Amino acid sequence: MTLSLLTNSRRGVSLFQSASRSLSRTVQKNQPDRDPTGNGGIGGSMVNEAEHSQTNGRRTEQVETTHFGFQDIPVNEKSDRVRGVFANVAENYDLMNDLMSGGMHRRWKASFVKSLGATPDMKIIDVAGGTGDISFRILDDIKQIGALESPIKVLDPSVPMLEVGRRRASELNYAGQVEFEIDDAEELSTVADDSVDAYLISFGMRNVTNPAKALQQALRVLRRGGRFMMLEFAKVDNPIGEQLYDAYSVNLIPSMGEAVTGDRASYTYLVESIRRFPGQEEFGAMMEEAGFRSVQKENLSFGVVCQYSGFKL
Ligand SMILES: C[S@@+](CC[C@H](N)C(=O)[O-])C[C@H]1O[C@@H](n2cnc3c(N)ncnc32)[C@H](O)[C@@H]1O
Repeated sequence: MTLSLLTNSRRGVSLFQSASRSLSRTVQKNQPDRDPTGNGGIGGSMVNEAEHSQTNGRRTEQVETTHFGFQDIPVNEKSDRVRGVFANVAENYDLMNDLMSGGMHRRWKASFVKSLGATPDMKIIDVAGGTGDISFRILDDIKQIGALESPIKVLDPSVPMLEVGRRRASELNYAGQVEFEIDDAEELSTVADDSVDAYLISFGMRNVTNPAKALQQALRVLRRGGRFMMLEFAKVDNPIGEQLYDAYSVNLIPSMGEAVTGDRASYTYLVESIRRFPGQEEFGAMMEEAGFRSVQKENLSFGVVCQYSGFKL
């Protein structure tokens, strides 16, 4: 696998795109890592439990790993590392979104919110909602026809991101129409079964350690007929565009992050995590496998971003 990755590599990043096929896997600590395909499967659901074994008189320890950007790390370290990144970027998160995407994230989010078509009676959760950007856009949108009967719940494990969100809510006079709560997409411990009409996750799923588990939780909390919608970076569907986009994101975004915030590492993670996340077909298949129906994928900006939708039927 290592050899074929090297020989097939058109450029540096394609090596990592190939490696992204395996989101999670098991490696033997103290052993050379010769088989990157390992036992990994999409979303980490096919990985063995950590185990200890005695081989040729040598004690080997098998550790379940997952990716953190381009690094492979023990699964149980990922959520802390991700929380560290978002604690670092929280204060500059909204400004950096504008700078890094040249304002494009506004268009992608506008398309996402338009596709949702929120109505006042909808119960909506904004998972990995961070600073509340998607929720505020929904509240802006719904103003034309009324007001939401239940506040939108922004759920996120990052306290600093939620704090920025709460501050923004009061600046925008949306306090009371949006609630910010600590929760993890893999748990959704604050959300009852069959209780929500729309589950939204925007640029959040690639940070989740086990996306398959998050999809199961999404299915649990949605009522029958409820809708899962996701906005996430994806695979560009045009070879020239793909190369330009790779060159821009891999080379420029970490430098931009460093120049504006003094933090290169967090922005390097954000770019690398895009490379490691499944593409449109693969994630669409994961949604079907989880049990979502009428799954649709819509590319935005030639697939830089994809908007996914599926229903619990
Ligand atoms: C790139 S931000 C997206 C914020 C917002 N949804 C938006 O579109 O602007 C990613 C968010 O995912 C959150 N996150 C990371 N791991 C998570 C998890 N396991 N469950 C839920 N949210 C998570 C981070 O704390 C961060 O706020």
